Amino acid sequence: MIPWQTLDRADVPGFGELTLHQRGQIFVIRKDGAEWMGSHTHRSEDLLATRACEGLRERDGVRVLIGGLGLGFTLRAALDALAADAEVEVAELAEAAVRWNRGPLGPLAGRPLDDPRTKVLVDDVANVIAAARSRYDAIMLDVDNGPDQSPQFGNPSLYSPAALAKIARGLRPGGTLAIWAAGETPSFLAAFRRAGYAAERVRTGGRGASRGHIVWIGRPVARTR
Ligand SMILES: C[S@@+](CC[C@H](N)C(=O)[O-])C[C@H]1O[C@@H](n2cnc3c(N)ncnc32)[C@H](O)[C@@H]1O
Repeated sequence: MIPWQTLDRADVPGFGELTLHQRGQIFVIRKDGAEWMGSHTHRSEDLLATRACEGLRERDGVRVLIGGLGLGFTLRAALDALAADAEVEVAELAEAAVRWNRGPLGPLAGRPLDDPRTKVLVDDVANVIAAARSRYDAIMLDVDNGPDQSPQFGNPSLYSPAALAKIARGLRPGGTLAIWAAGETPSFLAAFRRAGYAAERVRTGGRGASRGHIVWIGRPVARTR
């Protein structure tokens, strides 16, 4: 059996240690020693973008935001779903993840950082959202395990009622918020709706690791400005 190789490591202040590993054609990023994301399956990461970007290819001047670059699969799926004049901003906390995507991870998703429509912001996506006013046609979040927080992979402030209201302010009228989750959070659909979104929960299907993943989709119905 081919052994795992550790290609690089990086400390992300206030977040933890990320390490990049390779075995043959498979790449994995670990956070503080625990596997966080791998290249073997990306069905749910793709679905996050295809659902969020539905109907946007036909529009001019579309701008979307992706929170979390990871291995670049959501970014690739968004680029494939959008027109040539679209702008895709990607907020990524870890500069190392950007570097790895410009290096060994690049071919996995067809080098999406080289696409002229892509703009990378090395920042917390919460800061990018806080500064946005009617800026995005879609916001896609895949920065952790989703609304059901594990202490190790959490961004709890992104899913609170106040955060969901802030995200609504960053969306253009008719815009979409899509949230990736590692599994069910039974109370979240009601919380999403209470925050003013017409919301649904989509099971992503598939086999293996992606089997239980969920994508939450919402469109603000009452604008909170
Ligand atoms: C699970 S991965 C994203 C996977 C990605 N959807 C894909 O298709 O490969 C999560 C990414 O979010 C980044 N991240 C975590 N918290 C963040 C935050 N608050 N703001 C921006 N990026 C964040 C991590 O460094 C990691 O690269």
